[in-house]
Amino acid sequence: MWLQATLLLLASCVPSSLAIYADEVNHVDYHHALLGFPSAQSTFFLKPSPSSNASLLYTLSEKSLLGAVNPKDGSLVWRQNLSRSALPADGNAHTLLRASEGTNALVSAAGDYLSSWTALDGKLIWENWFVDETVADLELLELEDASASPPTKDTVALFGGKAAVVRRLDGDSGKTKWEHLDESGDIPIQISSSSTEVFYVSLQSSARKGYRIKVTSLDPLTGQQNQQQVLSSESDVSSADSVLFVGANTAAPLITWADQSRKALKVNVIGTKQVHTFDIENTSGESISSITIHAPKKLESLPHFLVHYETDSTTWAEVYHIDLKSASVSKAYELPRLEGWSVFSTSNKDANVYFTRITQSETTVVSSASHGILGRWTHQAPPMEQALHSVSEVVARGDTVAVRSAAALISGDWQLIRNGQTEWTRYEALAGALAAAWVEEDIQEDLAHQLQVEGHETLYGAYMHRVKRHARDLQHLPEWLKELPKRILTSILTDEVSNLDGFGIVRPVVVATENGRVYSLDAGNHGAVSWKVKAAETESWNVKAILTQPGSATIYVDDGSSVTLDVTSGEVLNRSPATVKIRSVAVASDGTTPVTVGIQENGVPTESVDGQGFFVTLSDDGSVLGWFARDNQNPAWQFRPAPGEKIIHATARPPHDPIASIGKVLGDRSVLYKYISPNLALITAVGDNSATFYLLDAISGRILHTSAHQGVDTTQPIASVISENWFAYSFWGDVVDPTDAKGYQLVISELYESSIPNDRGPLDSASNYSSITDLPLPHVIAQAFLIPEPISHMAVTQTRQGITVRHLLCTLPFSNAIVGIPRPVLDARRPVGRDPTSLEAEEGLFKYNPFLQFEGKWFLTHSRDVAGIKTVLSTPTLLESTSLIFAFGGDIFATRATPSQSFDVLGKGFSKLQLLMTIVALSIGVAVLAPMVRKKQINQIWKASS
Ligand SMILES: *[C@@H]1O[C@H](CO)[C@@H](O)[C@H](O)[C@H]1NC(C)=O
Ligand SMILES: *[C@@H]1O[C@H](CO)[C@@H](O)[C@H](O)[C@H]1NC(C)=O
Ligand SMILES: *[C@@H]1O[C@H](CO)[C@@H](O)[C@H](O)[C@H]1NC(C)=O
Ligand SMILES: *[C@@H]1O[C@H](CO)[C@@H](O)[C@H](O)[C@H]1NC(C)=O
Repeated sequence: MWLQATLLLLASCVPSSLAIYADEVNHVDYHHALLGFPSAQSTFFLKPSPSSNASLLYTLSEKSLLGAVNPKDGSLVWRQNLSRSALPADGNAHTLLRASEGTNALVSAAGDYLSSWTALDGKLIWENWFVDETVADLELLELEDASASPPTKDTVALFGGKAAVVRRLDGDSGKTKWEHLDESGDIPIQISSSSTEVFYVSLQSSARKGYRIKVTSLDPLTGQQNQQQVLSSESDVSSADSVLFVGANTAAPLITWADQSRKALKVNVIGTKQVHTFDIENTSGESISSITIHAPKKLESLPHFLVHYETDSTTWAEVYHIDLKSASVSKAYELPRLEGWSVFSTSNKDANVYFTRITQSETTVVSSASHGILGRWTHQAPPMEQALHSVSEVVARGDTVAVRSAAALISGDWQLIRNGQTEWTRYEALAGALAAAWVEEDIQEDLAHQLQVEGHETLYGAYMHRVKRHARDLQHLPEWLKELPKRILTSILTDEVSNLDGFGIVRPVVVATENGRVYSLDAGNHGAVSWKVKAAETESWNVKAILTQPGSATIYVDDGSSVTLDVTSGEVLNRSPATVKIRSVAVASDGTTPVTVGIQENGVPTESVDGQGFFVTLSDDGSVLGWFARDNQNPAWQFRPAPGEKIIHATARPPHDPIASIGKVLGDRSVLYKYISPNLALITAVGDNSATFYLLDAISGRILHTSAHQGVDTTQPIASVISENWFAYSFWGDVVDPTDAKGYQLVISELYESSIPNDRGPLDSASNYSSITDLPLPHVIAQAFLIPEPISHMAVTQTRQGITVRHLLCTLPFSNAIVGIPRPVLDARRPVGRDPTSLEAEEGLFKYNPFLQFEGKWFLTHSRDVAGIKTVLSTPTLLESTSLIFAFGGDIFATRATPSQSFDVLGKGFSKLQLLMTIVALSIGVAVLAPMVRKKQINQIWKASS
């Protein structure tokens, strides 16, 4: 208690918040800036400007994030979120990214939204929306008379919708130059261009069955239709997916498809009527599972292309040449059939085309002209994870070549391989993180358990237990002694004052991603991935929670199944089968071991457990139910919001939410008692344009407090959190003041037992009350602040004892940041419209200002762009001053927060060496001076006596 009091004093002495110093960035925090899985058709290497030598790696990911990555180290150069601008399209909107060497611009499409960006720094050049249409294809127009300098290339885009439309858009403004409307009802497939024509490829439904491929040629200057070819493909093509490939330009002016049984490959040179048929060899006896065409995209390339065949166990490829003059196609050579997977990619240097093949064990490069292998590199062990697609850049120096390839792996990650060596891996699967939890160290828990045992035994038993424990510890003594000199030396010499690993500050985090993977991030090593495993037996899962036990972590999936992993290796320890579909997982504690209970979609717990706990659940018909853990048949209470309202969120106090003091000491030494109940639930319900926040007692279901707001835009984020004796929420709506203003608001409400200091209200006399019958209502003091931008998620910092000032952690989706607002700033008792009296000032209150600007030092993310965060977690460490924070959902970000500064840790500037030197110098001084002083004293005595 004494310690706590001192700490409290310390905590209140230091400034409530201090910015993290620049030298602590990257030391106390880590950030994975992610893009998501790169899509196969929209990923490439490109020189960002005609004058630059080095290329960047561009992708438009499956999460509609457009970004440039430095191929040297895998760092993100810039990124843009296209789904911010695109209308919320139906599910998987078609996204495309195109660029052309020699221009400075990229053109992207997502659903109805087209935009152009500078390649070097990702600045917007133009954007355009085409309502009720979706982009089906996009090409940059390469015209002969492109005399403009610097060359900006116009875009031709194909739109689907009620009718198909081809449009030419200006390269500088995105405005439509011409459009060609096709109301025939054909399915638009793709566009292709030559220097003199634009080809529009569509599927015309045939009278019997299947589709004929129709190629319409348009004048690139006017959009007028020149001529039309219809290819009789109806017996082969049954849907748009049957067309394997349509080349974008004269580097590969072809349309390819295969017959239904995949016995023959059909190739048409665009603009001609002839269809070339090639037999597909079938010697393995296995059916072909996939055929992919790889062709160069750059205009000056030789018109060569590669056909990649896959069966379940083998892959091979054939290379074809097109003779543009005679419009004939011939097979040039074959690449051997190999066991296992391979991916191919195309790259070119001037007119030469190279094909790169990556397999599990090696990378090989061939020229499109002949089958001789130009380069072969064996991959290092362990065998490479399966890649789904790759892009490559080949550099030829004389006879030798060098290659670097960015391979998108089956786990969702992105890896760069240079000449067979892995250069970097971007863990893009983490962009789909669903749940995360800090690992519990095995060792510490063991000690805690041992101490618990000792606490429960008889005096003699506990003594013997401890003696045995220390005897066991002795076996580590020789090792410890051997390490000792090194430890002393390093501890003196390193500028890192104290190694805080032992204080639970460097705790790994396990993260489950939507593609069934589980990652372990090493906090001591900038969040590097220490292991990853495929824990799901399916391709995707919906993880509801991760709970950690010492040494293991259990992942709960929405189908009722769970997987337990070893946290040091990722090894699967246990699997439980799927049962019923669950909406969430509740934890009931029966004293020692936590028990988990699934909550079904209708809000009913899956089972009864023998424990003390109670749950509050949401049911699918929009009510809140309260349950005792031991009875899953009848809810203890049921709560329905007012008619017309819908519950969107329910939250309770964090499981670990210690309260250091039960009252608030005022300036005149009187005490305002906090209203403290562990059983509070905050329910958010929205109407058409209103939001109501209900504070419930979770045991009785009684409403303790209601606050309603009108004029609320319910499409904007509404966030809420509850902790200690206060709750906070934010929304966009009417400002309470009589003005007509609307704005983003943050409301804080504090709960007290009574409005009068030193009064405990009805609780005073009744030391013995039952929560169910006569819980008094809290006295609520609320205050609203206007904030500059919306808050999408709220959390509260957690510390071990709750002595340290709490920070309200707010996720800001507009500025891609997380701020920690100190609670004293949000004090609901700040004096309004006047300066604080001296008593209030003593209490730390300062004048209320309705506008709350987020101060720079509150930004836990500093200048980093931490995007897409959906959840922020906080956990205490063994140091009272320090709270760990982990944010996920899009990017991954982790940091340590010290809301009251690290008052229990020596500062970084503290030099042990200097301290030691001072002690040594003092000892020497004492050793030298002591005899002199003694001599002097003796001399004095002699003098005095003589
Ligand atoms: C680009 O390459 C040329 C020749 O290789 C070299 O002279 C020039 O300095 C390089 N430019 C940059 C920006 O690296
Ligand atoms: C290849 O041959 C096997 C058996 O000989 C047959 O089952 C399979 O359908 C054939 N595949 C193709 C694409 O013709
Ligand atoms: C609390 O009240 C109940 C009944 O009202 C009584 O049985 C119980 O003994 C009381 N406990 C204490 C500690 O006063
Ligand atoms: C992109 O924007 C969408 C829609 O606004 C948002 O849901 C998503 O979190 C954003 N993602 C990132 C990584 O910024």
